[in-house]
Amino acid sequence: MILEVAEYLLTPCSRAFRRVGYLQGQLGIKVRHRQCRHAWRPHLELTKVAILSAAQTCPQRRKCVILGSGRLLDVPLHRLSQMFQEVILVDAVHPLAAYVHAAWYRNVRLVRADVTATAEELTRVAGKPQLPLPRATPMLLCDDSEIDYVASANLLSQLAYLPGLFLEKGKRTDAEIEEYSHSLLAAHLDYLRRLPGVVSLITDVEKLVVNKQGQIVERIDILHGVKLPRSGEEWTWNHVPLGLLSRDFSYDRRVCAIANVKA
Ligand SMILES: C[S@@+](CC[C@H](N)C(=O)[O-])C[C@H]1O[C@@H](n2cnc3c(N)ncnc32)[C@H](O)[C@@H]1O
Repeated sequence: MILEVAEYLLTPCSRAFRRVGYLQGQLGIKVRHRQCRHAWRPHLELTKVAILSAAQTCPQRRKCVILGSGRLLDVPLHRLSQMFQEVILVDAVHPLAAYVHAAWYRNVRLVRADVTATAEELTRVAGKPQLPLPRATPMLLCDDSEIDYVASANLLSQLAYLPGLFLEKGKRTDAEIEEYSHSLLAAHLDYLRRLPGVVSLITDVEKLVVNKQGQIVERIDILHGVKLPRSGEEWTWNHVPLGLLSRDFSYDRRVCAIANVKA
């Protein structure tokens, strides 16, 4: 408990990001990974393989960017640092473990940024229903022509999650929140198309409710109606194993990996 409090206090995080819940969210991933380490392993490994095989197709290997790098659970950092001159890790909140991990490499840099570029404005207008919610038009790194590879790593489905919970506490209607969520995800896909280099998208697209017999009893769209630009390799992520939240159901995620959204 003392360690958790210390981590909460010591992790660099802006006031706005803290208010939206990015720091709590980051610490929550640590706890869930600890509980589900075994079940998550295949998904994390498949994500690493998808990143490496797409990165290997880059004709030049100057800068590599990982969006939503987080705890680096699904990022093959060591190989990427060997392949590229520079690796840039982008997240709203980098956990302390990522700072420690990155410090081993001379060519790894951490950038703390909200890839939707809306969090600051969101905290300003959330409680004022007369003001419109911000529109995401992210530009981060779009003008860096030395970037040869970008991966959005299990980030897309998360973009609207914490902002949505934050808005639910305020005076915004469900319809407004849903519209905002859809716009954040659509803007991310547009952003990926505008970034330089080969751009991979790895994301969970659907939540699957699975009964004890292994049958899927419900499918829930977690992309707020946004469609992926193309098909890709797919796998199932055992996200919440049987017995953790329910004795009757486990919760899986269908994951899609697109090697290059621009291809
Ligand atoms: C499910 S995790 C991805 C897993 C991560 N690649 C790892 O290996 O731990 C989602 C990550 O996206 C980050 N994130 C969520 N919304 C973000 C935003 N608007 N801008 C930047 N990062 C964001 C979270 O902080 C978290 O680290």
